[in-house]
Amino acid sequence: MPTYEEDFQRSLTDPEGFWADAANELKWSKKWDQVLDDSKSPFTRWFPGGELNTCYNCLDRHVEEGRGEQTALIYDSPMTNLVEKFSYRQLTEIVARFAGGLASLGIKKGDRVIIYMPMVPEAAIAMLACARIGAIHSVVFGGFAAKELATRIDDAKPVAIIAGSCGLEPGRVVEYKPLLDEAIELSAHKPENCVILQRPELKADLIPGRDVEWKALVAEAEPVDCVPVAATDPLYILYTSGTTGVPKGVVRDNGGHAVVLKWSMKHVYDIDPGEVFWAASDVGWVVGHSYIVYAPLLHGCTTILFEGKPVGTPDAGTFWRVIQDHNVKALFTAPTAFRAIKQQDPEGKLVGNYDLSHFKTLFLAGERADPDTIIWAQETLQVPVLDHWWQTETGWPMGANCAGYGIKPVKLGSPTLPVAGYDIQIIDEEDPSKQMPVGEIGVIAVKLPLPPGTLKTLWENDEGLIKSYMSEIPGYYKTGDAGYIDEDGYLFIMARTDDIINVAGHRLSTGGMEEVLAGHKDVAECAVIGAKDQLKGQIPMGFVVLNAGVNRPDADIVKELVTRVREKIGPVAAFKEAMIVNRLPKTRSGKILRGIMRKIADGEPYNPPATIDDPAILDEITEILKKVGYPKQ
Ligand code: COA
Ligand code: AMP
Repeated sequence: MPTYEEDFQRSLTDPEGFWADAANELKWSKKWDQVLDDSKSPFTRWFPGGELNTCYNCLDRHVEEGRGEQTALIYDSPMTNLVEKFSYRQLTEIVARFAGGLASLGIKKGDRVIIYMPMVPEAAIAMLACARIGAIHSVVFGGFAAKELATRIDDAKPVAIIAGSCGLEPGRVVEYKPLLDEAIELSAHKPENCVILQRPELKADLIPGRDVEWKALVAEAEPVDCVPVAATDPLYILYTSGTTGVPKGVVRDNGGHAVVLKWSMKHVYDIDPGEVFWAASDVGWVVGHSYIVYAPLLHGCTTILFEGKPVGTPDAGTFWRVIQDHNVKALFTAPTAFRAIKQQDPEGKLVGNYDLSHFKTLFLAGERADPDTIIWAQETLQVPVLDHWWQTETGWPMGANCAGYGIKPVKLGSPTLPVAGYDIQIIDEEDPSKQMPVGEIGVIAVKLPLPPGTLKTLWENDEGLIKSYMSEIPGYYKTGDAGYIDEDGYLFIMARTDDIINVAGHRLSTGGMEEVLAGHKDVAECAVIGAKDQLKGQIPMGFVVLNAGVNRPDADIVKELVTRVREKIGPVAAFKEAMIVNRLPKTRSGKILRGIMRKIADGEPYNPPATIDDPAILDEITEILKKVGYPKQ
């Protein structure tokens, strides 16, 4: 096998040869005419002319090649005390039949289908069934409220929605059906059908004529074969937080996506077909799409779909139990999960109760991996702990310590080196034509063309792609992250350059929260920042100025604001802190100084800009934050 350096260089100098080799690892119903068509940059097309089916490459192919009896998917749910295993043969049959059910509802190639499901195997089955018939799925995370779901319904215009009757969170059952009904009520677009998976924990009422029960649909259905689709046809849309309350619909194609995900399993994660890989995330996030569902199956691995939390289901040893019981070779999760475990079992004593001899590597991503968490994980698990960096937009890692080539020395706080295909550069924020010197922070950008598998466009919004990512630094994709590259070429990801915050590994827009707060009748203006949090990395914190003449108790208004964000965005926003202030710090031109407010909350030094309107406001904010315990010690 070539070295990392050889492959990385080749991926930049001969991208067509490099990715054609990777593409040959899949089965195509029609070979591509061209590997790369960059004639309409930044709308790069990979493998145009080629045809394949992603579901076929995930399932049927393995059955045909003798992997039928191997376990494809393990559903492990401490929430329901269930463990279920599906062989490749069983999963292929189940998916083919459910796909037949979808086809019987008239769903066909190119139609959109929203999937609003908890972490049950049917979530993956629904995704694969859509892929099988060429329908474009859009999974919406279960922790989002009805309004967020409605926004996605109006943008994707699905012909159908597949939903569970409920999700299970520790101590509460989340009723999905009322949220679904409310979302359809709120949206202008109405899906023709809803397919409802009735979970035993809660039965939902169905609306005759529109709602169909999953079981009933499958009972009547005939299995269907895979439909060949163009490599450049969309496989899915996944919405992610943008800089406003309107989420961006990242579109992923079929061909490039399958090629790089399969490639990444060996090269990034050092996993061979037949081995067990566990991404402890949720199918609602990109990590879940790529590394719970598609990549492990494309590579012929066993994947784990875990319905539980790192702590409390039942205890902080649950991850070790899953690793032991299913012979997990590599685990991928967010640092916040490890902070939660460490908080409850600081000495890592529970690890001793389990046999982790099969476990080789821990991968972390989703937020900055803080050195304390890495060191704790290294010492507790005695395996390499590898940070890697990526985004919903890219769909697979941009920066990683690619274990398949042999692990490079770990530098704490760095996701290591750029992954093949990504020409990452640090650009001067003031002058986009200049690169920053080694070791100096700038805007992180990727020279175009982006490698296969990355975002094709935004759903029905080509202009949005250019405006959001491609216009500020001509010839580059702007990641939205800031950081630097050191003398050894190691990447350091330091902060976002926009208003996105990262709460427990979940990407959220403070702009979106501000829109919700501003909609409260008593609010004149507001700002939301992400303050440092020991467990979740960051938590949102709102500062609110009330309309003149409002004289209701502050506590009542704060309570309403917290409820409002929970109802409009969802519990996942974890918005619990709001402060009523007299004024917000601004520049003379009226720009709110959110960055300085964040520094005050985090106890970091700051320099007020010369253009600040009234520096005394910063002292007021400092005092208010002190009263509620910020900065935290
Ligand atoms: N459906 C409904 N509600 C959900 C939900 C879902 N799928 N996921 C989370 N929520 C709710 C939680 O119940 C919680 O509600 P509460 O305010 O009533 O307590 C709220 O959303 C916030 O959730 P979260 O931020 O996840 O906090 P938590 O306290 O439940 O758990 C961690 C904290 C660290 C254990 C948890 O965030 C975790 O496991 N994170 C792993 C990170 C991860 O999976 N990242 C994905 C990218 S890799
Ligand atoms: P998401 O699209 O939800 O995957 O979030 C992507 C964002 O999370 C990135 O743009 C980063 O800001 C952050 N992120 C993800 N992984 C890392 C990492 N390993 N180190 C630092 N930040 C990360």
